[in-house]
Amino acid sequence: MKLAFWKKEGEPAGQVDFSRLPRHIAIILDGNGRWAQKRGLPRTAGHKVGAEAFRTIATYCRDIGIDYLTVYAFSTENWKRPEEEVGTIMSLLKRYLLEAIDTMERDNVRLRFMGDMGPLNEELRGLVDECNAISDRLTGCQCCICINYGGRDEIVHAARKFAMDCTAGTVKPEQLTEESFDGYLYSAGIPSPELLIRPGGEQRLSNFLLWQCAYAEFYFTDVLWPDFTKAELHRAIAAYQRRNRRFGAV
Ligand code: IPE
Ligand code: IPE
Ligand code: MG
Repeated sequence: MKLAFWKKEGEPAGQVDFSRLPRHIAIILDGNGRWAQKRGLPRTAGHKVGAEAFRTIATYCRDIGIDYLTVYAFSTENWKRPEEEVGTIMSLLKRYLLEAIDTMERDNVRLRFMGDMGPLNEELRGLVDECNAISDRLTGCQCCICINYGGRDEIVHAARKFAMDCTAGTVKPEQLTEESFDGYLYSAGIPSPELLIRPGGEQRLSNFLLWQCAYAEFYFTDVLWPDFTKAELHRAIAAYQRRNRRFGAV
């Protein structure tokens, strides 16, 4: 059994058992704006450093053998932000997509985008499709980036698709089960996350993975996303491994 210890002053050590890792980790990438404001920088500077933190953590998850990593990068509600901030996030996304298209085959990371891509500009939508198509050929760690994603939006989309299948006569309403409904979600085919991490100090879901998190273990930390390190990830996994998951049983 491989163990790793990480200790920060005043905090419990993160003791990770690498033979019992969660298969799927979800992260709400929160705290970029406050990270920048604390340093007297524009909020957009926080998004840039946050994107670097994402690269580091995604690569590390692949290296330790996490099968699925899903991150919340832009919500259906985030369009309410100032135009300049939204513009910066979209240009960071474009840069990330271009880089990913060049490197994902070499790195064997299946990058997928989840959410309603309709409102993105045509260029971004094209790059997202290209990334998803490359992913179909790969076998490595699957990294899902949620863009213009909302848990309620996802459920409504799924319900609509199911209703359309009913109208088309390919399925009957009484045939719907939890398992078959899962197949209508953006996350079709991906197992539910066992561990959901939210940095940035808030203790809420903010419309993330409402269906999929039914039995996820939640881990909240005040650390702001741009400061999130491998040691923080170890602490979260260690906390998860100390939990007693009962799923309603005794
Ligand atoms: C998360 O960081 C990134 C996005 C929501 C796009 P925030 O921008 O929400 O940072 P805070 O919460 O304001 O610090
Ligand atoms: C959640 O963070 C969305 C993402 C990280 C993409 P927000 O900063 O938008 O959430 P609230 O507004 O604090 O709930
Ligand atoms: Mg926030």
